[in-house]
Amino acid sequence: MTRFLLFGQTLSFSGDPFRTAWQDVTHVDSASAVFIDDGVVIAVGPADELRQKAPKATIVDYGDALLSAGFVDAHMHYPQTGIIASWGKQLIDWLNTYTFPEESRFGDKSYADDVAARTLDLALAHGTTTQASFCTIHPESVDAYFEAAAARNMAVIAGKTCMDRNAPDDLRDTAKFAYDDSKSLLERWHGKGRAHYAITPRFSPTSTPEQLEALGALWAEHPDVLMQTHLSEQLPELQWVKDLFPKARDYLDTYETFGLLGANGLYGHAIHLTQREKDRLTEVGAAVVHCPTSNTFIGSGLFETAGLAARMRVGLATDTGGGSSFSMLRTMAAAYEIGQLRGTALHPAQLMWLATEGSAAALGLSGQIGHLGAGAAADIVVLDLASTPAITQRAKRAENFWDQLFPTLMMGDDRAIRDVWVAGKQALPA
Ligand code: GUN
Ligand code: ZN
Repeated sequence: MTRFLLFGQTLSFSGDPFRTAWQDVTHVDSASAVFIDDGVVIAVGPADELRQKAPKATIVDYGDALLSAGFVDAHMHYPQTGIIASWGKQLIDWLNTYTFPEESRFGDKSYADDVAARTLDLALAHGTTTQASFCTIHPESVDAYFEAAAARNMAVIAGKTCMDRNAPDDLRDTAKFAYDDSKSLLERWHGKGRAHYAITPRFSPTSTPEQLEALGALWAEHPDVLMQTHLSEQLPELQWVKDLFPKARDYLDTYETFGLLGANGLYGHAIHLTQREKDRLTEVGAAVVHCPTSNTFIGSGLFETAGLAARMRVGLATDTGGGSSFSMLRTMAAAYEIGQLRGTALHPAQLMWLATEGSAAALGLSGQIGHLGAGAAADIVVLDLASTPAITQRAKRAENFWDQLFPTLMMGDDRAIRDVWVAGKQALPA
């Protein structure tokens, strides 16, 4: 049986609430249903109407729980799952102290298999149905991740993280190895099932100009794939980039010079941008990713959500394990808090949009994932809006839907995930 009718409240979007008034592009319906056939959403509409259209479909009634597109985590590092919440360091020290020693372990395929499986199960338990992940320098780590995602039928984006300087010996490749390995992994995985390959230079301090150039050349040969990296995260990192690339106009220029700026470019963090960088990102149609729990946890700074989302594609991400949570609910809460510190109270519709449609758009997958509407993959999260006593007592006073949802966005965690569907099948790990 591949036909299902899921009953509940539904939240969907017909436009971008950062560019149009949220009231005009958000659709909230109680007594609603999602009709799924063969892994794809066929329709979202009144329960009674859809019941007549699909009399033989299996009904799953979620009462007044909220059906939304599954969360899309647009930037994370699955190899850092084991070191999430490591104390006391800022970016460069954090990489050297915690991250690199852990990433060194991923040449061992069975270790990589184990962490990939654990990470994807944690994602599903938190309502995340797609991740864009960095892997490690080891091709085995890429195979492990795509294999684990295929076993769960999840749409994921991932790539071998390339580094040929300023990293330990066992985590460095060369310009040629980065090109060759990335190319063969891309050919092996891109477009296989729901897998998408992303060319992945870690960030310009850990790549020589030769390596950046080699990866730029690979991207030019495969302009349809994503290129993911980090940009302008923390001030000492910016100074380091200046020292390493004295001729560059700014951080973004260290990518642009080597062919690593384009519409399929995905730039994580993007906090301390100059006006030229913002203009250039907008001009080429690139996307940036907000990683709010990481930006506070590692002490990086306050992303300009509303301003940037009005002019370029912006995704939302956990940045595990620089980020301090696997939960996109907690991530939305942190995005709200950072918005407040910057003087903008993001509306719950904008937060939910970032976690679904916005991230999907950043990944170039609009309409395919992160969308509750006809033609999209049936990747769905079912949110219990009264999952804990603290949330329930606040939600009870709600005067409208948004007021009912907001306590779950601010205080919710995996207990709020009533169910999750991946490509039309229930997928909550046991
Ligand atoms: N910059 C370069 N590598 C990393 C990483 O692994 N995490 C974060 N947060 N920033 C980075
Ligand atoms: Zn990152």
